[in-house]
Amino acid sequence: MVQVSLSQPSTIGSQVLTPSPVIYVIIRDMRAEVGVKYFIHSISGKMNLMVWGRLCWFSNPETMFPMANILHVVLSNTLNTVPDHAHFLCQDFESAIRLAAEPPLADVIETIWIGGGTQVYKDALNHPWCDLVYLTDIMADFDCDVFFPEFDKGLFKLQERFPDVPSGVQEENGVKYKFQVFKKETGNGV
Ligand SMILES: NC(=O)c1ccc[n+]([C@@H]2O[C@H](COP(=O)([O-])OP(=O)(O)OC[C@H]3O[C@@H](n4cnc5c(N)ncnc54)[C@H](OP(=O)(O)O)[C@@H]3O)[C@@H](O)[C@H]2O)c1
Repeated sequence: MVQVSLSQPSTIGSQVLTPSPVIYVIIRDMRAEVGVKYFIHSISGKMNLMVWGRLCWFSNPETMFPMANILHVVLSNTLNTVPDHAHFLCQDFESAIRLAAEPPLADVIETIWIGGGTQVYKDALNHPWCDLVYLTDIMADFDCDVFFPEFDKGLFKLQERFPDVPSGVQEENGVKYKFQVFKKETGNGV
């Protein structure tokens, strides 16, 4: 699992902005349940917006829903109606972000999560608010045909430790993994 968190700068020059949501991008590998568990744990108790590409959305098992405290946005230019279990349909990434950043949701949404796929992750990683990458390095090989985009590890610096993120190698169901956090040096972080 990879999570990328993006947060809006709190200041631009001398202009102080109002508090805003934090955006997370998540790669969730259904074969490595560890990622899912950490994600669910991380979002409990907050109101969240989660952004999905159409294929990712429909790859979710019905048993995942409902998810407490989450409003779901599906991105598509071919769907005409909001899919079952989702709350919003948007035609581009910025529209989804604006949902959380503008009234009426701006006062409600604390965090934006990105559920993939590739293009949605790319859009999120390139978003100017992006300043943190939470990456779970799963130490095993799987056959894959969809990939998380490269991100600039010169821009996002690996943190030795990060609050609330377990350090060292973890293991579950025989799968070893470790959590990593990359922080954009020019960002404000969370
Ligand atoms: N294992 C993992 O961790 C993991 C994580 C994520 C995804 N996946 C897998 O990857 C596959 C899906 O990923 P994917 O990258 O192929 O597809 P995807 O992003 O989920 O879906 C692609 C579709 O979403 C819409 N879309 C995506 N980005 C958009 C944007 N910026 N603006 C407007 N619409 C946008 C478009 O729908 P329209 O064609 O309707 O316009 C596009 O054709 C699934 O099989 C999923 O299970 C696995």
